[in-house]
Amino acid sequence: MERFSIVTGDITHSDAEAIVNAANTTLLGGSGVDGAIHRAAGPELLAECRGLGGCETGKAKLTRGYDLRAKYVLHTPGPIWQGGGLGEPALLASCYRSCLLLAKEHGIRTVDFPSISTGVYAYPLPLAATVALRAIMDFLAENDLPERVRMVCHTEAAAEVYRQTWNLWYAGDKSERM
Ligand code: APR
Repeated sequence: MERFSIVTGDITHSDAEAIVNAANTTLLGGSGVDGAIHRAAGPELLAECRGLGGCETGKAKLTRGYDLRAKYVLHTPGPIWQGGGLGEPALLASCYRSCLLLAKEHGIRTVDFPSISTGVYAYPLPLAATVALRAIMDFLAENDLPERVRMVCHTEAAAEVYRQTWNLWYAGDKSERM
């Protein structure tokens, strides 16, 4: 099984053990992938989220997946893009690391991510892809769990940006890295 891959699709259809929700700090649902996940999971997801007391940007909280194929949802509020000078890269990296750590702690073997913060939160996609891939690859290099992580892009255009970023930083041997 490839440890990391970039795919295109609707994350609510994912067969991963856990899918990540690009949430907001209330954890009470929203539009975008947050709205799609809550619609697909059903009202019990919101009921569980109500009891969590929200979540800080960059942190993550785990719930069950209910009507989703995924057994779990890892909710993480990404940073709102404000130009890049207010700690957004570190907070975005923390979203990925927090979800992966929580998955590992719960023995979760497969995790699918959406492209956190690149929709409503307006994080420029190429910049977000660089942060996301670095955070994921660094974590996988140090940990045996999860066994498989995928970036699930909603559009082929987004997947292409992730693939180009991957090729820039991770294709070929180390000597080719900038
Ligand atoms: N499957 C996979 N990816 C999806 C899906 C889906 N079903 N729907 C949207 N996306 C992608 C978007 O194309 C974008 O690339 O998820 C990425 C994140 O976009 P948003 O869902 O808008 O999330 P984000 O930018 O992190 O903003 C979070 O939006 O929905 C609200 O409550 C949420 O306030 C929070 C904010």
